[in-house]
Amino acid sequence: MSAYLILKHLHVTTAFLTVVLFALRLLLDAVGRPGWRQTPLRWIPHANDTVLLAAAIGLLFVTPWMPFVDGWLTAKIFLLVGYIIAGLFALRTTLTTPVRITAAVLALVQVTAIFHLAINKPVF
Ligand code: HEM
Repeated sequence: MSAYLILKHLHVTTAFLTVVLFALRLLLDAVGRPGWRQTPLRWIPHANDTVLLAAAIGLLFVTPWMPFVDGWLTAKIFLLVGYIIAGLFALRTTLTTPVRITAAVLALVQVTAIFHLAINKPVF
């Protein structure tokens, strides 16, 4: 398999996993099971996101796409920063429930937009 296909499969698989793992942690908190913070679920999402970003950087080397040249990719990077910040707020137990819910919705909207941009690669 070519480097492109390996990186692409890795990127897409970890992209889906980032959403699944984020939603799982939100769900566990919502049903009153914050104890996941004392399980491997504390570090598995970080390991996954590291692979996701490493594969993303790898893809930049084997595809013609360039950040700050291709608008969809630039927008994706800004949305990624927003997704990370909103995700941190959503999972912070010291914040109030309305703040956490708002942050969770913002994080999910932004990651949906990332998928939309990645799949459709609109020119703008
Ligand atoms: C949460 C973060 C991210 C998610 C969920 C995500 C998701 C995806 C998905 C689903 C695809 C495949 C689209 C398709 O062709 O069908 C894709 C492609 C791509 N992603 Fe990401 N991505 C993320 C972050 C990044 C970042 C930070 C970069 C670069 C700085 C990046 C670079 C790329 C590139 C270059 C492609 C196109 C590969 C190709 O031409 O086949 N991604 N992304």
